Amino acid sequence: MSTRSIESVIPGVAASDGAGVKLRRSLGQGGAQRLDPFLMLDEFGSENPGDYIAGFPAHPHRGFETVTYMLEGHMRHQDHLGNVGELRSGGVQWMTAGRGIIHSEMPMQEQGRMRGFQLWINLPAAEKMKEPGYLDLQAADIPLVRLDGGGVVRVIAGDYANGTHAADAQRVAGPVQGLATQALFFDVELPPGGAWSQPLPPQHNAFIYLYEGALRIGAAGSEQPLPRSSAAILSPGDGVEGRAGPEGARFLLLAARPLGEPVVQYGPFVMNTRAEIEQALRDYASGQLAAGQARRR
Ligand code: CO
Repeated sequence: MSTRSIESVIPGVAASDGAGVKLRRSLGQGGAQRLDPFLMLDEFGSENPGDYIAGFPAHPHRGFETVTYMLEGHMRHQDHLGNVGELRSGGVQWMTAGRGIIHSEMPMQEQGRMRGFQLWINLPAAEKMKEPGYLDLQAADIPLVRLDGGGVVRVIAGDYANGTHAADAQRVAGPVQGLATQALFFDVELPPGGAWSQPLPPQHNAFIYLYEGALRIGAAGSEQPLPRSSAAILSPGDGVEGRAGPEGARFLLLAARPLGEPVVQYGPFVMNTRAEIEQALRDYASGQLAAGQARRR
Protein backbone atom coordinates (compact mmCIF):
# COMPACT_ATOMS: atom_id res chain seq x y z
CA MET A 1 0.00 0.00 0.00
CA SER A 2 1.35 3.44 -0.86
CA THR A 3 0.30 5.47 2.11
CA ARG A 4 -1.11 8.93 1.67
CA SER A 5 0.37 11.79 3.65
CA ILE A 6 -0.79 15.33 4.38
CA GLU A 7 -0.15 17.39 1.26
CA SER A 8 -1.65 20.68 2.44
CA VAL A 9 -3.97 22.09 5.10
CA ILE A 10 -6.95 24.43 4.70
CA PRO A 11 -7.43 26.02 8.13
CA GLY A 12 -11.05 26.45 9.19
CA VAL A 13 -11.99 30.11 9.63
CA ALA A 14 -14.90 31.64 11.48
CA ALA A 15 -17.76 32.56 9.14
CA SER A 16 -21.51 32.92 9.27
CA ASP A 17 -24.25 31.80 6.92
CA GLY A 18 -28.04 31.60 6.78
CA ALA A 19 -29.52 34.08 9.27
CA GLY A 20 -26.18 34.58 11.01
CA VAL A 21 -25.44 30.97 12.06
CA LYS A 22 -21.87 30.90 13.33
CA LEU A 23 -19.70 28.28 11.74
CA ARG A 24 -16.18 27.34 10.82
CA ARG A 25 -15.48 27.00 7.08
CA SER A 26 -12.47 25.09 5.75
CA LEU A 27 -13.09 24.04 2.14
CA GLY A 28 -14.93 26.67 0.13
CA GLN A 29 -13.58 29.92 1.54
CA GLY A 30 -12.84 30.68 -2.11
CA GLY A 31 -12.14 28.90 -5.38
CA ALA A 32 -8.58 27.98 -4.41
CA GLN A 33 -9.76 26.14 -1.30
CA ARG A 34 -11.81 23.47 -3.07
CA LEU A 35 -10.82 19.84 -3.59
CA ASP A 36 -12.55 18.54 -6.73
CA PRO A 37 -15.40 17.49 -6.42
CA PHE A 38 -15.73 18.84 -2.84
CA LEU A 39 -16.80 22.48 -2.88
CA MET A 40 -17.28 23.38 0.77
CA LEU A 41 -17.21 22.04 4.32
CA ASP A 42 -18.72 23.95 7.24
CA GLU A 43 -18.63 22.84 10.87
CA PHE A 44 -21.29 24.43 13.03
CA GLY A 45 -21.29 24.00 16.79
CA SER A 46 -22.56 26.15 19.60
CA GLU A 47 -23.95 25.87 23.13
CA ASN A 48 -25.61 29.25 22.68
CA PRO A 49 -29.03 29.20 20.94
CA GLY A 50 -28.47 32.85 20.00
CA ASP A 51 -25.83 31.58 17.57
CA TYR A 52 -28.14 29.24 15.66
CA ILE A 53 -31.80 29.82 16.50
CA ALA A 54 -32.51 31.92 13.38
CA GLY A 55 -31.37 28.96 11.25
CA PHE A 56 -31.14 28.89 7.48
CA PRO A 57 -34.31 30.50 6.07
CA ALA A 58 -35.44 29.70 2.51
CA HIS A 59 -32.62 29.80 -0.04
CA PRO A 60 -31.96 28.20 -3.45
CA HIS A 61 -29.36 25.75 -4.77
CA ARG A 62 -28.54 24.50 -8.27
CA GLY A 63 -25.89 22.20 -9.72
CA PHE A 64 -24.55 20.19 -6.77
CA GLU A 65 -25.38 18.18 -3.64
CA THR A 66 -25.62 19.40 -0.04
CA VAL A 67 -25.03 16.95 2.78
CA THR A 68 -25.96 17.89 6.35
CA TYR A 69 -24.69 15.66 9.14
CA MET A 70 -26.02 16.44 12.62
CA LEU A 71 -23.87 15.32 15.53
CA GLU A 72 -26.19 16.89 18.08
CA GLY A 73 -29.36 18.88 17.78
CA HIS A 74 -32.66 18.92 15.92
CA MET A 75 -33.51 20.82 12.73
CA ARG A 76 -36.49 20.76 10.41
CA HIS A 77 -35.88 21.09 6.72
CA GLN A 78 -38.57 21.98 4.28
CA ASP A 79 -38.46 22.54 0.52
CA HIS A 80 -40.55 24.38 -2.07
CA LEU A 81 -42.30 21.14 -3.07
CA GLY A 82 -43.68 20.67 0.44
CA ASN A 83 -41.23 17.97 1.52
CA VAL A 84 -40.55 18.15 5.24
CA GLY A 85 -37.98 16.19 7.20
CA GLU A 86 -36.52 16.17 10.66
CA LEU A 87 -32.79 16.06 11.12
CA ARG A 88 -31.87 14.67 14.56
CA SER A 89 -28.67 13.77 16.36
CA GLY A 90 -26.63 11.34 14.29
CA GLY A 91 -28.80 11.82 11.19
CA VAL A 92 -27.92 12.91 7.67
CA GLN A 93 -29.80 14.71 4.95
CA TRP A 94 -28.36 14.07 1.49
CA MET A 95 -29.91 16.56 -0.91
CA THR A 96 -29.27 16.58 -4.63
CA ALA A 97 -30.17 20.08 -5.76
CA GLY A 98 -29.89 19.25 -9.47
CA ARG A 99 -31.78 21.85 -11.53
CA GLY A 100 -33.03 23.59 -8.45
CA ILE A 101 -34.36 23.44 -4.94
CA ILE A 102 -35.47 26.14 -2.54
CA HIS A 103 -35.31 24.98 1.04
CA SER A 104 -34.93 26.06 4.65
CA GLU A 105 -33.28 24.44 7.64
CA MET A 106 -34.61 25.71 10.95
CA PRO A 107 -33.64 24.65 14.50
CA MET A 108 -36.38 22.83 16.44
CA GLN A 109 -34.62 23.17 19.78
CA GLU A 110 -34.46 26.24 21.96
CA GLN A 111 -31.62 25.19 24.20
CA GLY A 112 -28.59 22.96 24.34
CA ARG A 113 -25.87 22.22 21.91
CA MET A 114 -26.30 22.25 18.13
CA ARG A 115 -23.44 20.67 16.30
CA GLY A 116 -22.79 19.24 12.86
CA PHE A 117 -21.48 19.69 9.36
CA GLN A 118 -22.57 20.79 5.94
CA LEU A 119 -20.67 19.48 2.95
CA TRP A 120 -21.17 20.50 -0.69
CA ILE A 121 -20.26 17.99 -3.41
CA ASN A 122 -20.25 18.98 -7.06
CA LEU A 123 -22.30 17.22 -9.74
CA PRO A 124 -20.90 16.44 -13.20
CA ALA A 125 -22.15 18.61 -16.08
CA ALA A 126 -24.42 15.78 -17.22
CA GLU A 127 -26.28 15.78 -13.86
CA LYS A 128 -26.42 19.45 -12.93
CA MET A 129 -29.91 19.87 -14.37
CA LYS A 130 -31.44 16.60 -13.19
CA GLU A 131 -34.55 16.65 -11.03
CA PRO A 132 -33.87 17.38 -7.36
CA GLY A 133 -33.87 14.55 -4.84
CA TYR A 134 -33.20 13.97 -1.20
CA LEU A 135 -32.55 11.20 1.25
CA ASP A 136 -33.23 11.53 4.98
CA LEU A 137 -31.25 9.18 7.17
CA GLN A 138 -31.68 8.71 10.90
CA ALA A 139 -28.78 7.59 13.07
CA ALA A 140 -30.08 3.99 12.99
CA ASP A 141 -29.88 3.95 9.16
CA ILE A 142 -26.13 4.52 9.24
CA PRO A 143 -24.10 1.30 9.67
CA LEU A 144 -21.41 1.15 12.33
CA VAL A 145 -18.20 -0.78 11.82
CA ARG A 146 -16.44 -1.71 15.08
CA LEU A 147 -12.69 -1.64 14.60
CA ASP A 148 -10.38 -4.30 16.12
CA GLY A 149 -8.56 -2.37 18.86
CA GLY A 150 -11.59 -0.18 19.59
CA GLY A 151 -13.05 2.64 17.63
CA VAL A 152 -16.06 2.97 15.35
CA VAL A 153 -16.59 3.99 11.72
CA ARG A 154 -19.99 5.36 10.68
CA VAL A 155 -20.43 4.58 6.98
CA ILE A 156 -22.54 7.37 5.47
CA ALA A 157 -21.70 7.08 1.76
CA GLY A 158 -19.98 4.46 -0.37
CA ASP A 159 -18.57 1.13 0.74
CA TYR A 160 -16.35 0.73 3.74
CA ALA A 161 -13.75 -1.97 3.00
CA ASN A 162 -10.82 -3.05 5.06
CA GLY A 163 -8.30 -5.89 5.12
CA THR A 164 -5.50 -6.06 2.59
CA HIS A 165 -6.56 -9.40 1.05
CA ALA A 166 -9.90 -9.99 -0.59
CA ALA A 167 -10.45 -13.05 1.61
CA ASP A 168 -10.34 -11.13 4.86
CA ALA A 169 -11.79 -7.91 3.55
CA GLN A 170 -14.67 -6.58 5.58
CA ARG A 171 -17.21 -4.73 3.43
CA VAL A 172 -20.05 -2.60 4.69
CA ALA A 173 -22.27 -0.63 2.32
CA GLY A 174 -23.31 2.85 3.38
CA PRO A 175 -26.87 4.03 2.65
CA VAL A 176 -25.77 6.54 -0.01
CA GLN A 177 -24.67 4.75 -3.17
CA GLY A 178 -24.51 5.25 -6.92
CA LEU A 179 -23.08 8.76 -7.01
CA ALA A 180 -21.24 9.82 -10.17
CA THR A 181 -18.36 10.97 -7.95
CA GLN A 182 -18.25 7.60 -6.10
CA ALA A 183 -17.98 9.57 -2.88
CA LEU A 184 -16.93 7.94 0.37
CA PHE A 185 -18.06 9.69 3.56
CA PHE A 186 -16.99 8.08 6.85
CA ASP A 187 -17.10 9.45 10.39
CA VAL A 188 -14.30 7.77 12.38
CA GLU A 189 -13.92 7.62 16.15
CA LEU A 190 -10.67 6.23 17.61
CA PRO A 191 -9.86 5.44 21.25
CA PRO A 192 -6.79 6.97 22.92
CA GLY A 193 -3.69 5.85 21.00
CA GLY A 194 -5.83 3.85 18.54
CA ALA A 195 -4.26 2.94 15.19
CA TRP A 196 -6.31 3.09 12.00
CA SER A 197 -5.82 2.26 8.35
CA GLN A 198 -8.14 2.47 5.39
CA PRO A 199 -7.67 1.53 1.72
CA LEU A 200 -8.80 4.26 -0.69
CA PRO A 201 -9.27 4.22 -4.47
CA PRO A 202 -5.97 5.65 -5.78
CA GLN A 203 -7.72 7.95 -8.30
CA HIS A 204 -9.87 9.60 -5.59
CA ASN A 205 -9.12 12.98 -4.08
CA ALA A 206 -9.32 12.74 -0.30
CA PHE A 207 -9.26 14.87 2.83
CA ILE A 208 -9.65 14.45 6.57
CA TYR A 209 -11.35 16.88 8.95
CA LEU A 210 -10.38 16.39 12.60
CA TYR A 211 -13.06 17.74 14.94
CA GLU A 212 -12.13 16.21 18.30
CA GLY A 213 -8.95 14.97 19.93
CA ALA A 214 -5.63 14.56 18.17
CA LEU A 215 -4.55 12.50 15.16
CA ARG A 216 -1.33 11.84 13.26
CA ILE A 217 -1.52 10.75 9.61
CA GLY A 218 1.00 8.91 7.46
CA ALA A 219 3.12 5.78 7.28
CA ALA A 220 4.76 4.63 10.53
CA GLY A 221 7.80 6.77 11.21
CA SER A 222 6.67 9.72 9.09
CA GLU A 223 3.34 10.65 10.64
CA GLN A 224 2.32 14.29 10.66
CA PRO A 225 -0.11 15.84 13.16
CA LEU A 226 -3.40 17.23 11.85
CA PRO A 227 -4.51 20.62 13.05
CA ARG A 228 -8.00 20.48 14.59
CA SER A 229 -10.94 22.09 12.72
CA SER A 230 -8.96 22.20 9.47
CA ALA A 231 -9.16 20.14 6.28
CA ALA A 232 -6.00 18.11 5.65
CA ILE A 233 -5.72 17.36 1.93
CA LEU A 234 -4.11 13.97 1.34
CA SER A 235 -1.46 13.15 -1.25
CA PRO A 236 -2.15 10.42 -3.86
CA GLY A 237 -1.90 6.80 -2.71
CA ASP A 238 -4.02 3.71 -2.24
CA GLY A 239 -4.59 4.00 1.48
CA VAL A 240 -4.37 6.14 4.55
CA GLU A 241 -3.24 5.32 8.07
CA GLY A 242 -3.03 7.18 11.32
CA ARG A 243 -2.95 7.09 15.08
CA ALA A 244 -5.04 8.93 17.65
CA GLY A 245 -3.49 11.00 20.43
CA PRO A 246 -3.92 10.35 24.17
CA GLU A 247 -7.46 11.78 24.16
CA GLY A 248 -8.62 9.76 21.14
CA ALA A 249 -9.81 11.31 17.88
CA ARG A 250 -12.99 11.99 15.92
CA PHE A 251 -12.70 12.93 12.28
CA LEU A 252 -14.44 12.86 8.90
CA LEU A 253 -12.83 11.09 5.95
CA LEU A 254 -14.06 12.26 2.54
CA ALA A 255 -12.87 10.85 -0.76
CA ALA A 256 -14.30 11.05 -4.30
CA ARG A 257 -13.49 10.86 -7.97
CA PRO A 258 -12.51 14.30 -9.28
CA LEU A 259 -14.71 15.60 -12.11
CA GLY A 260 -12.01 17.64 -13.87
CA GLU A 261 -14.62 20.14 -15.14
CA PRO A 262 -14.63 23.93 -14.92
CA VAL A 263 -16.36 25.27 -11.80
CA VAL A 264 -18.17 28.60 -11.90
CA GLN A 265 -19.81 29.42 -8.57
CA TYR A 266 -22.06 32.28 -7.61
CA GLY A 267 -23.21 31.76 -4.01
CA PRO A 268 -25.56 28.78 -3.95
CA PHE A 269 -25.32 28.09 -7.71
CA VAL A 270 -22.43 25.96 -9.00
CA MET A 271 -22.26 25.45 -12.76
CA ASN A 272 -19.66 24.97 -15.51
CA THR A 273 -19.96 28.33 -17.30
CA ARG A 274 -20.78 31.94 -16.57
CA ALA A 275 -23.76 31.72 -18.97
CA GLU A 276 -25.22 28.86 -16.92
CA ILE A 277 -24.92 30.99 -13.76
CA GLU A 278 -26.74 33.84 -15.48
CA GLN A 279 -29.45 31.35 -16.51
CA ALA A 280 -29.73 30.14 -12.89
CA LEU A 281 -30.19 33.73 -11.68
CA ARG A 282 -32.86 34.35 -14.33
CA ASP A 283 -34.60 31.06 -13.47
CA TYR A 284 -34.56 31.94 -9.77
CA ALA A 285 -36.00 35.40 -10.44
CA SER A 286 -38.75 34.01 -12.69
CA GLY A 287 -39.67 31.04 -10.49
CA GLN A 288 -38.36 28.49 -13.00
CA LEU A 289 -35.52 27.30 -10.78
CA ALA A 290 -37.95 25.53 -8.51
CA ALA A 291 -40.24 24.20 -11.23
CA GLY A 292 -38.91 20.63 -11.02
CA GLN A 293 -40.46 17.57 -9.45
CA ALA A 294 -38.81 16.05 -6.41
CA ARG A 295 -37.96 12.40 -6.42
CA ARG A 296 -36.76 10.28 -3.55
CA ARG A 297 -33.29 8.96 -4.06
CO1 CO B 1 -29.17 24.88 1.67
